[in-house]
Amino acid sequence: MAESMKGLKRTHRCGELSAANVGETVTVMGWVAKQRNKGGIIFVDLRDRSGILQIIFEEGDVGEEGFAKAGRLRSEYVAAVTGRVERRAGAVNENLATGEIEVRAQSVRILSEALTPPFPIEEDSKTKEELRLKYRYLDLRRPDLQKKIMLRSRITMAIREFMTKEGFLEIETPMLTKSTPEGARDYLVPSRVHPGMFYALPQSPQIFKQLLMCSGYDRYFQIARCFRDEDLRADRQPEFTQVDMELSFVDQEDVMEVNERLIKYICREAIGLDVQLPLRRMPWIEAMNRFGSDKPDTRFGLELKDVSEVVKGCGFGVFTSALEAGGSVRGINVKGQAGMPRKKIDSLVEYARGCGAKGLAYLSIQPDGSYKSSFAKFMTEEELNALAAAMEGEKGDLLLFAADKNTIVYNVLGGLRLELGKQLGLIDEKRFDFLWVTEFPLFEWSEEENRYVAMHHPFTMPVEEDLDLLETDPGKMRAKAYDIVLNGTELGGGSVRISDENIQERMFTALGFSKESAHERFGFLLDAFKYGVPPHAGLAYGLDRLVMLLTGAESIREVIAFPKVKDASCLMTEAPNVVDEKQLEELGIAIVAKKEAAPAGDAAEQTSAQE
Ligand code: AMO
Ligand code: AMP
Repeated sequence: MAESMKGLKRTHRCGELSAANVGETVTVMGWVAKQRNKGGIIFVDLRDRSGILQIIFEEGDVGEEGFAKAGRLRSEYVAAVTGRVERRAGAVNENLATGEIEVRAQSVRILSEALTPPFPIEEDSKTKEELRLKYRYLDLRRPDLQKKIMLRSRITMAIREFMTKEGFLEIETPMLTKSTPEGARDYLVPSRVHPGMFYALPQSPQIFKQLLMCSGYDRYFQIARCFRDEDLRADRQPEFTQVDMELSFVDQEDVMEVNERLIKYICREAIGLDVQLPLRRMPWIEAMNRFGSDKPDTRFGLELKDVSEVVKGCGFGVFTSALEAGGSVRGINVKGQAGMPRKKIDSLVEYARGCGAKGLAYLSIQPDGSYKSSFAKFMTEEELNALAAAMEGEKGDLLLFAADKNTIVYNVLGGLRLELGKQLGLIDEKRFDFLWVTEFPLFEWSEEENRYVAMHHPFTMPVEEDLDLLETDPGKMRAKAYDIVLNGTELGGGSVRISDENIQERMFTALGFSKESAHERFGFLLDAFKYGVPPHAGLAYGLDRLVMLLTGAESIREVIAFPKVKDASCLMTEAPNVVDEKQLEELGIAIVAKKEAAPAGDAAEQTSAQE
């Protein structure tokens, strides 16, 4: 039977006690991590979120009844112990923060008994994630997970402190709203009062924060839950949290400046890391050309080189036909890896295929200077020499090449670069490399829709010098958009917004929106702009990703208390789930068996959600 808390007060958390408390009488409460019965003495490791504390029970101290109770304690029982802090009689435990001391129990209460948990509650659990997620409340007791969740709280706190000091107002925006333009599918919520109508859960507070600027709140922030129905990965969840902000009367520089100080503040407060400012900046095109990615991991080299000019007239059809089709040939020099076994090279080729490559060409420069290559027979000695020289290839190097459309070449070599960086141990895991990527293209071409779509969103301001291209060559336009990248992960992104009605209309035209359809979707924002709109700009971070990187977690699931798995379900609550007939009836909803979705229609649907 569980005992009550009556008359009992916790004085300390387990991990808070140290040699400084020796001699004090304390009351601690927590979960039994371990119980060892040595006959006349019982040792119990008591655990709470602050750490583990050793309790020592002897009949002479706790009495017969107390000693019997101590004997009944099992793993994960919840207990309260009052006793005296003493220096350990036995050896000091260097692995425990409280390793110098123990508490000699004078009384004990069993607050709750516990079933044997389906897996041990321990650091670095080897238990399969599915089982841990089914019993997430137990998983969340594990010290390493608790540390991450507590650090998340500290980071959130630091953000609130900084933003408030800088004059930002924390304002909430609706969850039940209309579709927002962030490029993923919406989660929809049916309306009971308006049968056949739906709310959309926000993909971001984008439109509302712009409206708040129109309303004069000039510096807004929110730690906002966002919802996106997209394919999940290690750094994506269907619901996630943004640190969202918007500022009035500012340009790109102002947003970047305050955000650099925010980053510095968070890193110092949360993990004691001193980030040097200003952060590095790189235009998008440079990031793509050097790293094959708009979120480059800049902790290591293996940069891409464009060799299109060098192989222009060569005899290797794979290269020349890619160039003729308007693509490029680029390579990476894997230093000192000429001896890479054929099997490993084949696995790289497979990896490249997985990234969309038709193949991967290689040239390895043997220690004697001769070449081993998948395409040597198509090229003259001079052509091979020129290619090796362009790649700064030396004896012992392995050169890898991709030839295709630029987007594919970037994707393949960018992916390969990361894979090789990992395989060859080139990444310094202790480094935190922040990077701004700037001057993103304003548009990207959508093959499916045969039109331009906005790369960020349709309210993003073009770089002023490029405005003239809006009607003539939109593909070349750069946006006043910026991403912040940490160690190869996109932490956040934002832009200067269009606050000029005329430019906004030209933008919609370039995107192929009629005036009517633009108004139907975003009319309230466009109308608001007619009543006096300040120039404004903003940015949003993925809080989960930020916490993931600062805590060294492998996945954002480790820093979200109750995450979802790949198919967007929650293994603990078993959501999503069926609902009562009555609820469906009230909503005017009938379930129709799903037909096989046509793949083409599916793809079009996904991209048309881009605006
Ligand atoms: P964006 O779409 O780039 O910009 O989102 C901002 C940041 O949110 C994080 N993020 C995610 N994190 C976890 N799971 C997801 N599914 C997910 N999707 C996005 C990323 C990303 O950088 N309204 C604009 C911001 C602005 O312009 O001010 C926006 O939402 O870290
Ligand atoms: P093939 O003539 O198709 O046998 O190709 C010769 C070599 O070129 C093989 O090593 C292929 O893997 C490689 N290759 C094929 N397509 C490409 C491509 N698009 N980019 C780089 N290498 C390729």
